[in-house]
Amino acid sequence: MPKQTARLAADAEGIARAARILAQGGLVALPTETVYGLGADARNDRAVARIFAAKDRPRFNPLIVHVDNIETAQSLVDWPHAADILGRAFWPGPLTLVLPLNTSARLAPLVTAGLPSLAVRIPAHPVAQALLREFGGPVAAPSANPSGRISPTTAEHVAAGLSGRIEAILDGGPCGVGVESTIVGLTGAPALLRPGGLPAEAIERALGQPLARTGPTGPLTAPGQMASHYAPAAPLRLDARTRRKGELLLGFGAVDCDLNLSPSGDLTEAAANLFAHLHALDARAAPIAVSPIPETGLGRAINDRLRRAAAPRP
Ligand code: TXA
Ligand code: MG
Repeated sequence: MPKQTARLAADAEGIARAARILAQGGLVALPTETVYGLGADARNDRAVARIFAAKDRPRFNPLIVHVDNIETAQSLVDWPHAADILGRAFWPGPLTLVLPLNTSARLAPLVTAGLPSLAVRIPAHPVAQALLREFGGPVAAPSANPSGRISPTTAEHVAAGLSGRIEAILDGGPCGVGVESTIVGLTGAPALLRPGGLPAEAIERALGQPLARTGPTGPLTAPGQMASHYAPAAPLRLDARTRRKGELLLGFGAVDCDLNLSPSGDLTEAAANLFAHLHALDARAAPIAVSPIPETGLGRAINDRLRRAAAPRP
């Protein structure tokens, strides 16, 4: 973790420096028109893992990927007609679309928390746009607040929560919208997953159809709030000190295993590898045992995910 968080002015020099920090795997808080985001290179597993560490998030919620143009958005996801209508009507702006992930997009699996869908948006804030252009790649960014605290709408809010945990804050003044983006799911019938800065009525008018607001078991929620999303097909056994016959061992620390989350016992590295390693072992169609992971820092989010992956399937 950096000791000092740089406060960067939103001028050409500050934006260039912020882009360099992102390119080197660092974390930069950036202004968007909704709230400040905590940005990292969405293709860099370790940088994305550091987002969760900096926020002290006890869970891996999937993150929104920010891009600066519609063609880049289209390259990351499948692009149904409804996405075209909404993207062209409301981007750049406070709208996030959840679409089927294009598996050749090469994003860090932690961005989607292993889900086959991706949340993507083009922010309207000129400083966010300038940074995305200068960086030239997708930026994963949740709201720039410690877990459980309210979303920041000024650089001061960000500093109060995250100083000393991130490389830089790009100061673009107060956010105009002040609430998070509206999230619309387009992996099936268009659905309102989170109300936000863009009124649902405006989206329904553009689509010419109502948004689904409830699922079969009650209100729809973004999957970060749901009990379980990705689980491997194979059974998972946690806190395994040894490998039983027929099992594959997902190791942590200095153990003899099939794949190791982090041979040196580094929790950020382990988080960065978690989903890719689970997928890789799952593809070998054998039961998976997992070494004990300490219940501290990012270890809590890793264990939360593993426990839910190991839970009985519905
Ligand atoms: O305005 C905003 O949306 C801000 C700025 C920074 O862009 N970002 C933001 O991110 O609010 P965050 O992480 O605080 O909220 C992201 C929400 C979570 O509720 C998460 O579950 C949902 O987006 N989400 C992300 N990926 C998803 C996916 N594949 N499917 C459904 N929901 C997803
Ligand atoms: Mg948030």
